[in-house]
Amino acid sequence: MKALQNFSNVVNRNGVTVNNDKDIDISDKRVANLSFNKNFLFQSSEYLEEDIKRRFNLDELNISFRESVPVLEFVDWKITHVAPGFVETVLPINPNSSNQHITHQAALMLLSADYTGGLALSTLFHGTPIVGFWTMKDSYGAYMWGAKAGIKWHYPSFGDLVCRAKIDKKNWHHISKRFEDHKVVVVTVKIEMFNQDKLVAESDFTYWAQDTTGIMKNAFDESKINILYEYKTKATARLIAGLRALEQEKAPRDRMFDDPYAFMLAGKHGITLAKRFCGIIPQIQNMVSARTKHLDDVVRDFSQKNKMFNVINIGSGYDSRFWRIGVENCFVYDMDLPVVLNERKRIFDFGAKDNFYTVPIDLRDHLIDEVLLNFEAFNSELPSLIIWEGGSMYFDDDCISSILKSASKILAKSSTSRFWFDYVSKDIIENLTGLKEIEDFMRNMSKMGEPFVNGFAKVSEDIKVFGLECIVDDHSGVFLDNQDMIYDHYRFCLAKKCE
Ligand SMILES: C[S@@+](CC[C@H](N)C(=O)[O-])C[C@H]1O[C@@H](n2cnc3c(N)ncnc32)[C@H](O)[C@@H]1O
Repeated sequence: MKALQNFSNVVNRNGVTVNNDKDIDISDKRVANLSFNKNFLFQSSEYLEEDIKRRFNLDELNISFRESVPVLEFVDWKITHVAPGFVETVLPINPNSSNQHITHQAALMLLSADYTGGLALSTLFHGTPIVGFWTMKDSYGAYMWGAKAGIKWHYPSFGDLVCRAKIDKKNWHHISKRFEDHKVVVVTVKIEMFNQDKLVAESDFTYWAQDTTGIMKNAFDESKINILYEYKTKATARLIAGLRALEQEKAPRDRMFDDPYAFMLAGKHGITLAKRFCGIIPQIQNMVSARTKHLDDVVRDFSQKNKMFNVINIGSGYDSRFWRIGVENCFVYDMDLPVVLNERKRIFDFGAKDNFYTVPIDLRDHLIDEVLLNFEAFNSELPSLIIWEGGSMYFDDDCISSILKSASKILAKSSTSRFWFDYVSKDIIENLTGLKEIEDFMRNMSKMGEPFVNGFAKVSEDIKVFGLECIVDDHSGVFLDNQDMIYDHYRFCLAKKCE
């Protein structure tokens, strides 16, 4: 740990000199943005070795890979050695990995090659968690997908298959630098597969990888949006629809709400996502059901108290609320990224509703109040119910501030206007709850590529600075018998403009 301490006495992730090695994560990629020259860092064996030690704890990683890709568990595949630009794994010969000839099933050898080469490449993405396998500390990580693969089977494989992937050292710097510059990295990795010393197969696997900063760059431009970001965004919206579809599968008397649209909206993909998430994070379905019911009730109540009103649905995703609950005395403005809104228009029959609008926005770049004021059909004089469901935990402080400021300006127009949002406690974000189930929940959300990065310490105080007054602050267990503490940390806030 000597090299780590040396580094930790120099800089922390924000560029501040510190003497506390607990504060520094040398593997954090942002070290590279600090005092060190990247050329130096990426060629420093101390840096590379510490980065590998930090990120590649083999016991943890083997568990994680098996959780994320169940077939790896089934065949008892394991990672046995990791070094910069190098990975070794083993696909044992066993009843689950073999075929009718009692040799390795050919495609499983390719599967093994895939994860071996991908891991070797990930050693060069310094300090960066790969979404799906590592837990992310914040919303920064990398996506990696296979682009092309070839394999030559030289001999039948009837012993444990040792796969080795080695990336030529002369290419390391170029790969790391491109990645660090947020560019797409396309790399072909050679994987050799052995039964003891005998080379039984070789594979060339081409990977496509990029960090989350690069992937999100053209999020607002549908013609340029990164395919993976489009996939991820739609997958998140489908996941939520899938969780609602699971509620719909319950007997009518046991459901918290009725959402006949959910199954079709989620599709098989959304249902599979939902089942995978529920397997790993069992509380998530109750949480989404509770928030759906809470907001349904708020909407119904608001519609009774206001003759005609606006609904501003921030990050509308595949929410079907206004198609299913029969509240008609409103104009609905669905706000989301264009790629989601266009999918929304493809799914729902917008031709049948002349009071429903889609309003494209990138919440990271645009202000809600300004976008709406420039939207011709928006009548700012009507009371507004702003809803932001399943969003506040995913954005950084700056973005949260702009959204709360915008909400406050919109609410200022009418004393009956309200803002509903769900949120998690700051303790959850800062890992201070001391509850294992919550730590597991957060670890799994982050591993699934959906890390929570924002929470509120005391919501009524936190939103007051934006001129908002909290009038309801319910915990998500409000409709459940279950006393699981996690529900106390996920809450629903209804706010009005401060008087
Ligand atoms: C977790 S989903 C929730 C969807 C919906 N509110 C629901 O409860 O079913 C989050 C939504 O926020 C949207 N979103 C994420 N980042 C965004 C951004 N930068 N600008 C606009 N919308 C965004 C996503 O496209 C997605 O539809």
